[in-house]
Amino acid sequence: MSQLLEIENLQVHFPLQQGIVDFLTRKPRRVVKAVNGVSFQLAQGQTLGLVGESGCGKTTLSRAMLGLVDVAAGRVRFDGDDIFSQNRAARLALRRRAQMVFQDPFASLNPKMSVGSTLAEVLRFHRICLPRQVPARVAELMEMVGLSRELSVRKPSELSGGQCQRVGVARALAVNPDLLVADESVSALDVSIQAQILNLFLNLQQEMGLTMVFIAHDLGVVWHLCQTIAVMYLGRIVEIGASSEVFHNPRHPYTQALIRAIPQMHAEASVSTDLLSGEPPSPLDIPRGCAFHPRCVRVMANCRSGAPPESVDMGTVQVACHLYDK
Ligand SMILES: Nc1ncnc2c1ncn2[C@@H]1O[C@H](COP(=O)(O)OP(=O)(O)OP(=O)(O)O)[C@@H](O)[C@H]1O
Ligand SMILES: [Mg+2]
Repeated sequence: MSQLLEIENLQVHFPLQQGIVDFLTRKPRRVVKAVNGVSFQLAQGQTLGLVGESGCGKTTLSRAMLGLVDVAAGRVRFDGDDIFSQNRAARLALRRRAQMVFQDPFASLNPKMSVGSTLAEVLRFHRICLPRQVPARVAELMEMVGLSRELSVRKPSELSGGQCQRVGVARALAVNPDLLVADESVSALDVSIQAQILNLFLNLQQEMGLTMVFIAHDLGVVWHLCQTIAVMYLGRIVEIGASSEVFHNPRHPYTQALIRAIPQMHAEASVSTDLLSGEPPSPLDIPRGCAFHPRCVRVMANCRSGAPPESVDMGTVQVACHLYDK
């Protein structure tokens, strides 16, 4: 199985704006370590779920691996090519081969254009087909995402949120991408519509053999859609592996807490979690030792002082936790 994406020790740092006092007192410039040493590989046709709390670096990681933000260190290979040493033409090609679907279905479409024109424009811009084939291809794309072709004359405001999101998916598919990155692409939708869109992604992945990265807060939403789940905490992957294993037998105390925090389907109220109390610390002040130790219920003395092993191999999963250090 050939690797489509190979990421090695990727780091993305955002320098913080300095105040005048900081400047006068010559305080060192502070940086947000949004992605702080991430490595993983994704094989062609596989689906990766990237989960973790708000601010843990999911969006930044996905943008960095598509070459859309500057990185402080590390390497990204897309289909064997190092994307940071590519020329302009190759970078443009990558922009076509890797597509993103965003969270807000309305905001990501042009409100003034009919959705059919939006799709046609993408086909023309990237010269995906001959001009005379464009209308037929638009109809085909609409059908692929489960929209009747009559809707193609409508503007986004004349469609529901779920329908808009289907258009967003059609637009991403229009350029025949190899990789689709869906960033919280269902979280703005009603639960029943979420399930429909997730099924659409599942069908597309099975029928077209797309490679996908699925970003979500909620492990419960994505685990059955993905072969692999990566759990992020403060810019690092703390657990990665076969998704049913991560979901049913989580090793890292953070993954365990995330799973316990998933609202139960039939519970009266969502089960609150005493396991995951408090906000994650700021990525400006990442705690010493293991970054999760201040919130960890299984914290040990060495978690406060030493960084956990980067990746302990436990068969189908790898975990970065002192508990499994041999
Ligand atoms: N352009 C930027 N400039 C400065 N800091 C940024 C920038 N983009 C992101 N950050 C910071 O980097 C960290 C990671 O942000 P990111 O958006 O990647 O998280 P996320 O996991 O996608 O969160 P969410 O689930 O809320 O979308 C956050 O602390 C955020 O404030
Ligand atoms: Mg995000």
